[in-house]
Amino acid sequence: MRIRFDTIGDIAVIQSDYIDSMKSKARIILERNPRLRVVLAKKSKVDGIFRLCEYIHIAGENRTVTIHRENGCIFHIDLSLVHFSPRLAHERMLVAMKVKDGEIVLNMFGGVGTFSIEIAKRVTARVFTVDINPDAVRLCLANILSNHVRGEVATILADAKESLSVFPIATFDRILLPLPGKSIEYLPLAIPYLKPNGVIHLYEFINASRKEDPVEGVVKKVSLIFGRRKMLTYEGRIVKSVGPRRYMVSIEIVVE
Ligand SMILES: C[S@@+](CC[C@H](N)C(=O)[O-])C[C@H]1O[C@@H](n2cnc3c(N)ncnc32)[C@H](O)[C@@H]1O
Repeated sequence: MRIRFDTIGDIAVIQSDYIDSMKSKARIILERNPRLRVVLAKKSKVDGIFRLCEYIHIAGENRTVTIHRENGCIFHIDLSLVHFSPRLAHERMLVAMKVKDGEIVLNMFGGVGTFSIEIAKRVTARVFTVDINPDAVRLCLANILSNHVRGEVATILADAKESLSVFPIATFDRILLPLPGKSIEYLPLAIPYLKPNGVIHLYEFINASRKEDPVEGVVKKVSLIFGRRKMLTYEGRIVKSVGPRRYMVSIEIVVE
């Protein structure tokens, strides 16, 4: 029997199902994967400002706390308190590989520090990582200490909108907006804080028919926002499928 599950540290996360079928799946997962200690089922979709899911404990130790390893970094995570998706590991590596030594980076929706720490682990960048969830910021601080980064990571507990005003205009070489569904709302506020030829990394959900290109769909939405500043170049990719003909898209834009 092939069972689909996500692995977050030593926790397996399965989709919620009939309770009997979840229990037998959980037993098989734990038998086949001795490294895993906990099986949780996702009871709800990601929801609320903090983008949390509800989980129910199915088997193994009864906890939501773990340590997850990704792209050479370790992350302390509590699934009951913070958002975390292991499915973005490749995307986080791609973004981290683009950043050069000396860059000043703003991550407007930083969570437990995944993108920010993976960047600062590779290069001597200064990364400001903002989150509105106090538990995400607390875990991010623990993660900064655990990862011996080469650069610097500073945490800010705030609504990303309010955090911007503490910086001078044209401060950042790169701004990350990893909050699909909301990023486009924050984009016009972020643009003035980007240096000339700075880079935006934006994540968005989009529905696209078989004939439509999801990346072009997001670029069209985003291009309406630029106003006086121009998109010089852009590239994009589908990060993952999130439903029938619905996608999470990442676009990277160089701004004049
Ligand atoms: C989809 S998660 C991304 C987390 C992280 N970038 C990652 O990949 O692991 C979005 C994060 O944005 C935070 N958030 C939501 N609204 C926010 C806001 N207005 N200002 C700052 N952070 C916000 C949530 O608390 C959550 O941690």
